Amino acid sequence: MQKFMFHLPTKVYFGSQTIKKVGEETAKLGKRALIASGRNFARKTGILKKVEDLLKKKGVEVILFEEVEPNPSIKTVEEGADLSKGRECDVIIGLGGGSAMDVAKGIAVLSTNPGPLTHYLGRDKVKNHPLPIITIPTTAGTGSEVTPYATFINNKKRPPRKEMIADRLILPGVALVDPQLTLSLPLSITADSGVDALSQAIESYISKRSQPLSEILALKAVELLAQYLPQVIKNPKNLEFRSFCLYASLLGGMAIAHTGTVLVHGMSYRLTSEFGVSHGKAVGVLLPWVCQFNLSSNYLKFSSLANALGDKTENLSEQERAKKFIEKIKEFLLQVGMPQNLKEKEIKEKKIEEFAEEVMENRQKILANPRLPTLNDLIDIYKKALWGNY
Ligand SMILES: [Fe+2]
Repeated sequence: MQKFMFHLPTKVYFGSQTIKKVGEETAKLGKRALIASGRNFARKTGILKKVEDLLKKKGVEVILFEEVEPNPSIKTVEEGADLSKGRECDVIIGLGGGSAMDVAKGIAVLSTNPGPLTHYLGRDKVKNHPLPIITIPTTAGTGSEVTPYATFINNKKRPPRKEMIADRLILPGVALVDPQLTLSLPLSITADSGVDALSQAIESYISKRSQPLSEILALKAVELLAQYLPQVIKNPKNLEFRSFCLYASLLGGMAIAHTGTVLVHGMSYRLTSEFGVSHGKAVGVLLPWVCQFNLSSNYLKFSSLANALGDKTENLSEQERAKKFIEKIKEFLLQVGMPQNLKEKEIKEKKIEEFAEEVMENRQKILANPRLPTLNDLIDIYKKALWGNY
C-alpha cells in the first residue's frame, strides 16, 4: 500500500450553533482579537455582532477589520496587519468566505513577520510563527478553514496576478464550522462556492499527490456536493442541505491541504485577476475540459468520480464509465447555473497564449496534474473553455 503523511492540526467544531464556542476557544489563545470580515454580509446578517458579543462575554477585546473585498489584495492584508500591530492583537479571526479567512491568515503572518507580504508568497517562506488563527466560514467553498493556503491579488504586478502563501505555519488553530451561518448566503455565491468546492475535491482526487486518506475525503466531498448543491439551490433555507454542502467543503479542504489542486485552479487564476471572473465561474468553465484532457491518465479514478456524481448506467467498462463522468459533470454545472464559456469577456488568442505560457511555468500544478500537458494542450483547453459550447 502507498505510504503517506497526514497532518491536520486544526481543531474542528462542526454543526449548528458551534459558533457559540468562539468566546471560549479565543480566550484560550489570546486577550485581544482582530476579526477580519467582508464589508456587508457578516454585519447585515447579525453574525458579526453575535461573534463580537460572544467574545466580549469571555473577556476578549475585539478589534474589527471589515475591509475584506472578494479576491482580496495584498494592500488589504497590509492594512489589516497595521491595525493588528497598532492595537497589539494576539489572535486573528477570519469570519466570512475564503477571502476573509485568507486575509486573516495574511494578517497573522504580518503581525509577527516584517513586511511586505510579497516576501511570503510562494511555498514555506514564513519565518516566525504567525499569531494564532481562528476560522469561521460563512460559505461552503474553499475549505480555507482547514488549509495551509491563502490567496491574494498581487496588484504590484502588471497585469495583476493571483498569488498564494502555501505554508503549514498558517494552518488555523481552530475552525468553527457552523452551517447556520450559510443559510442567508445569496444563491449566486452559493453556486460559485459550491462549484469551487467540487472542483477542489475532484482535482485533489485525481492529483498525482493524492494519497489514501485524501482520496476518501475528496471522493466523499464530490458525492455530497453532487447530491446536495442542486438541492440547496432549490431550497436555500434548508439547514440539512446547507449542512451537507458545508461538510463537503470541509472534507475537500482537508483533502487539498495534503494534495493541493491541479490544472483547473492553475489555469483559472488569470481569468479572475485580469478579467474579474468569479473564482467559482473561472474553475467551472475549465473543469470539464481539464478533466477531458486528463481522462486517459486514470480511467479507474474518473469511473469512481462518475459513480460519485450519481451515474447508474449498468454494464459499462471502466473506460466507458470514465467518459460518463464528463457528461455528468457538464450536466451538473448547467444544473447549478454555471456558464458554458466566457465568450462575453472576449478573451483573444494572444491572451490565451500568454496565459498558457505562464501556467507552464507553474511546476507545482503541472507536475501534480495526472497528465503532463504541452503548451499547445493548454492553449487548446483554454480555447474550449473560454469560447466553446458543450
Ligand atoms: Fe478554489
